[in-house]
Amino acid sequence: MHETLKKLGDIGVIPVVKIEKASDAVNLGKALLAGELPVAEITFRTAAAEEAIRNLVRHLPELLVGAGTILTVEQAKIAIAAGAKFIVTPGFNPKVVDYCISEKVPVTPGISSPSEIEMALERGLDVVKFFPAGALGGVPFLKAISAPYGGIRFIPTGGVDPSNLSEYLSFNRVHAVGGTWIAKEATISAGNFGEITQLAQEAISLSLGFEHAHVGINGENPQIAVASAEMFSRLFFFAARDGTSSIFAGAGSEFMKTPYLGTHGHLAISTLSIARAEAYLKRKGVGVRPETAKEKDGRTVAIYLDREIAGFAIHLLQK
Ligand code: 3PG
Repeated sequence: MHETLKKLGDIGVIPVVKIEKASDAVNLGKALLAGELPVAEITFRTAAAEEAIRNLVRHLPELLVGAGTILTVEQAKIAIAAGAKFIVTPGFNPKVVDYCISEKVPVTPGISSPSEIEMALERGLDVVKFFPAGALGGVPFLKAISAPYGGIRFIPTGGVDPSNLSEYLSFNRVHAVGGTWIAKEATISAGNFGEITQLAQEAISLSLGFEHAHVGINGENPQIAVASAEMFSRLFFFAARDGTSSIFAGAGSEFMKTPYLGTHGHLAISTLSIARAEAYLKRKGVGVRPETAKEKDGRTVAIYLDREIAGFAIHLLQK
C-alpha cells in the first residue's frame, strides 16, 4: 500500500473541506493540527481549492493535504501541481483514476457497486471511497458489498458523523472515514477555528475509542494471585476465571501469577484499532514494545507501551 494511503488509515478520519477563501486555509490547517487531526481533503467545489492547497502545503508541512471532488483530469493535474498528496473522486471516472495511477499519486475513487469495486481491483487499487455511505445503507451495505472482495479497503464518506463514526471504524474493512462535519464551510468563513479544533479532537477520540479495560496486579506467586481472586469473588461476587499466567476476578481485575511488566502490574486500555492507536501515540511521542505484540489472524491484538505510568505498564488491547 502507498505510504500516503497507509497514513490516511493510521489517522482514521479525513475532514472533507469546502473552502471559500484561500486565505482561511492556514488557520483551518492549524485548527485541525491543534485537534490532533493532521490531514485535510480540500474539495474542488470552490475556486479557492487550488490556492488553499498551495497555502497549506507551503505553510504546514506536517499536515497531509489531499484534493477532493476531482471530476476531470485537468483538475487532477492542477491539484497535484499545487501539492495535493492524494486525490479523492466522488465516482469512478476511469480517465481520472488512470491519470493518477500514471502520475503515481494515490487515488481513492468513490464506489457504490460491485462493478466499480472490480474496476478498482483491475487497476490494482487497494483503497476506495465508499460514497454516499449513509444513503447507500451504511455498515450493513458495506459488509455485504465487500464480502466477495478480500483485499480492498474502504473510506466511507457521506453521512458520517460522531454518532456513527465508531460503527464504521469497528468494521475491519474500513480504512478510514471522511466527512464534512469537522470543518464546515460556514464555520471556516465565520472564523470559528476553535470549534473545528474541538470537533477534530472529538473525531480522533471516537476513532480510537479508548476505554479502561482492566487492572493487572503483579502477584508474588500463584498462591497469592489465586487467593486474591477468590477474595474478590467471595466479597464482591466477581467470578474468578483461571488462566495460564493470571487469574481474573470479573472483567476488571487480573491477578498475575508471577510478576510481569510494570512495577505494580499493568493497566489495560482497549481501543477500536491498535494500528491507529500506535500511530496516534507515536505522534504524541509514545512508543510500543514490539516484542510484546500478540497477533491474531495477521493483526496485532495486544501490545505494551514503552513506558510505565504511576508504576503500571500500559497494555493496549484490540476491542
Ligand atoms: C464528500 O464529498 O465526500 C461528501 O459530500 C461528504 O459528505 P458529508 O457532508 O455527509 O460528510
